[in-house]
Parts: sequence; C-alpha cells; structure tokens
Amino acid sequence: MNAEITGWGKCMPPNVLTNSDLEQIVDTSDDWITTRTGIKERRISHVEASDLAAVAGQRALAAAGKSVDDVDLLLVATCSGDTIIPSTASRVQDKMGLTNAAAMDLNAACSGFVYGLVTGANMIRGGTNKTVLLIGTEKLHYLMNTTDRTTCVLFGDGAGAVVLEPSEEGIGLLGSDLGMDGSAGKYLHVPADGTQGEIGRRAPEQCGIAMDGQEVFRRAVTMMAESSLLAIQKSGLDLEDVDILIPHQANVRIIDATARRLGVDSARVFVNIQSYGNTSAATIPVALTEALEQGQIEPGSIVAFTAFGGGLSWGSAIVRWGERVTPIATSDAELPPADKTTMEILQSNLDFFGEKSA
Ligand code: COA
Repeated sequence: MNAEITGWGKCMPPNVLTNSDLEQIVDTSDDWITTRTGIKERRISHVEASDLAAVAGQRALAAAGKSVDDVDLLLVATCSGDTIIPSTASRVQDKMGLTNAAAMDLNAACSGFVYGLVTGANMIRGGTNKTVLLIGTEKLHYLMNTTDRTTCVLFGDGAGAVVLEPSEEGIGLLGSDLGMDGSAGKYLHVPADGTQGEIGRRAPEQCGIAMDGQEVFRRAVTMMAESSLLAIQKSGLDLEDVDILIPHQANVRIIDATARRLGVDSARVFVNIQSYGNTSAATIPVALTEALEQGQIEPGSIVAFTAFGGGLSWGSAIVRWGERVTPIATSDAELPPADKTTMEILQSNLDFFGEKSA
C-alpha cells in the first residue's frame, strides 16, 4: 500500500506588504529586494496561524471530497504557531471540528511540510491511518524584527494543506530524503522563543529571526540539490523523469542555483516567491496548490519537492501524481474580513522591535 495526495488548498491572508511599504520601515529598496531575493510582496495576517490553517484545511478536504469526520490524523507543520501548549494542531483540530483525529505539531522549520508528507504517508503505509490532513501554516510576521533589514524583508504569512489517502503501489510517495545538521542551527534561529534562558529577561532583538544569510544560502543550494538527487535515486527514477520541481521558496537565487546544479531547466521549476516571500512550512503546499490550479500537474506527473530551513533541516520527496488533478468540490470557508491595514498590524512590531536600521 502507498499514500497519495488527494486534496489540496491554501489560505493567504488578504493584507499585502509590498517592497515599497518596507522602504518606509527599514533602509531598503524595491530594487534591492527584487534583485537579491525575487520577492515583490508578502502577506501579513490579521488572524492566528491556526485560523489560516483551518481555512486551508477545509479547502483541501473539499478538494479531496472528504468530510471532517473522515480525518484520523492531523499534522500541522509550523515554526510560528499560536502557542506551544496546547499545540497549534490542537487549536486547528478544535476550529475545524476534527473530532476523530489525533493531532500534533511538527517543527522542521521550512522543511516541515516535506517532513510531514513523509510522516503522514508512512502512517498510512503502516496501516495506522487512512485519511491524513497535513497543513503547513505560519504567522512569521510575529518574528519580524523591523530593525533588521537583512531578515525582515524575506518572510510572510500563509497556509497550505494537503489530504493524504491510501493509494495503489507506484502512485503517491515514491522516495524521500530527510536530514538535519543541528550543529548549524545557530545560522538561522530565534534566540528567545522557547524556554531557554531566564524568565522575563528577553531583549527585543532576541525575539526576532536572526540569520547568517550567506551561510544559509550556500548550504541551502548544496543540500537541496544533494537531497533531491538522493530522493530521486531512492524512487528508482532519473532527473529527466521529473516533470515539475516544487522547491521551498526562500530566495529565487537559491531556487535558480539549485536548479542549475541539478541541471533542471527553469520551465520545470515552480516559482511564486514574488507574491508571498518565504512562508516557511507553508511555501510548498501553497505552491503545489497554485501549480495544480495553473494546470502544471497532469495525471501521472512526477512531482519533486525539496526544502531547506532552520535546524538546519532539509528534505526532499518524489511523488507520482494520480489520475485526478482537479478538486472534487470547493469549500466556502473564508477568513473573517481584515479589520486593520497592513501597517496597523505591523505597528506592534514597530513598537516592540523599533524602526529603521543603521
Ligand atoms: N536592503 C538593502 N540592502 C541590504 C538588505 C536590504 N534588505 N539586506 C542586506 N543588505 C545589504 C547588506 O548590508 C550588504 O551591505 P554592505 O555590502 O554594505 O555590507 C549588502 O546588502 C550585501 O549583503 P549580503 O548579505 O551579501 O547580500 P546577499 O546577496 O547574500 O543577500 C540574503 C542577503 C539574506 C537575501 C541572502 O543571503 C539569502 O537569501 N540568504 C538565505 C536566506 C534564507 O533563505 N533563509 C531562510 C532559509 S529557509
């Protein structure tokens, strides 16, 4: 028995933060951000990560033709969830009414969706579960240090979801590779977002994302290429067999360099970073949903996912798509309307972290 993706959906919050808006906050320019990262705008959420997740989850369930009662396992990949106790998955389970589902969070930062895909598929293969809802959701703007121009221009909020169900052999997840180099965790971290350190002694700069951009860039290209090759090899396929590569969306230059290293031409690589920036665990399910909506995946397509992120973690998964590339139904689930402008939402960041970098 194998496991395949039978439903997909996304939920992007309506508030847009453009590069020009960021020029008002930090010493940056639309030209610098566009040429160095490929990002033009990103979304800033007026609701919690669990709210984005619940809407994306409803849409994915409708696409799969499943009801909330069918789901027996909910996996929520996130590194910017609502709370640690209870888990974000607990909150999503409640908001969606998934009363028959076990639920847990999975934190592998930007690799979280690929980790979740492999975990969920193997729960099905092992016979423990029949309908797994896997959601990547992030409210990264909460960690956006508005005085650090090297990080605050990169990230955005959003959620994407897939439904996994049993499939016949040869359809669904064919091969994967997951890895972690914990010794390099210091290159991309939030110094004070957990229990380490003394209670009550947290300076604002410890509460935002801190990163050695060049080190992460170099490692991301190397590991996404190596890991993709390993996963393809484990699938018994060659690079030429891959119809579409859906990489984590962190920087278009990372995506281009990875594709060059693999020898995959850009026509086979899905990119939507210009619209959303880096939404960590949400990037791949959101990109997958858009690739399907744009008709870029056909029955039987070989789809390659590859990701790299905090940890430093990486993961790749190769999927042979089934027969159906259109949703069975659509959901009318929607977020509540935004009651604040983008800048009003970000005022809390400006108050806490400060304005304008040196
Ligand atoms: N606007 C304007 N200038 C900026 C800037 C910004 N937002 N951010 C950095 N700069 C400046 C730097 O201060 C530096 O100036 P200097 O030469 O006067 O010192 C210059 O631009 C070049 O900085 P550098 O760090 O070499 O830029 P880069 O080309 O490496 O791009 C990143 C920086 C962060 C975009 C890039 O390294 C990157 O994408 N890294 C990986 C990040 C990532 O993907 N993280 C998540 C992984 S999941």
